Amino acid sequence: MATREIIRMGNPILATLAQPIQPDDVATLPDVIQDMIDTMRAANGVGLAAPQIGLSMRLIVFEIPRNRQTTSDTNSPLSPQVLINPKITHFDDEMELGWEGCLSIPGLKGEVPRHSSITYDAIDAEGNRLTRHACGFHARVIQHEIDHLDGILYPERMLNLRQFGFVDELEEH
Ligand code: NI
Repeated sequence: MATREIIRMGNPILATLAQPIQPDDVATLPDVIQDMIDTMRAANGVGLAAPQIGLSMRLIVFEIPRNRQTTSDTNSPLSPQVLINPKITHFDDEMELGWEGCLSIPGLKGEVPRHSSITYDAIDAEGNRLTRHACGFHARVIQHEIDHLDGILYPERMLNLRQFGFVDELEEH
């Protein structure tokens, strides 16, 4: 297992548009993908985007914990997932607020509006095209991670900065 350093807010890589992965390069990714999964799990995260380990690539991994699975989100996968060049192809108009944290903004969380359901497509780790409908937490994670590929961090999506603070303070009071 190899974990990589997670870069934090303020590093310009996190504010930069990440580069698409070319089809010929998919075969070179397994080591990076395994390191990203190891890094995400070691940090108790539910998602990680390649720019967070300093790589300008449109690549994300995520894993929805069992206690965040919802019955309405029937497509929510249980195993770690890899999305190459992911793209949201449909956003439901309905928005919902939810708390988010980010491994690049450690110790903090904030309340962020996201589309309550989306459809996304991507290439998987085997090079196959996939399309999925997602709602709830699954949809939120995908929107958060794809934002990383576009150089956007969740505080930029917030509508009310009073709903932003340190996790331990927010949970204590
Ligand atoms: Ni994040």
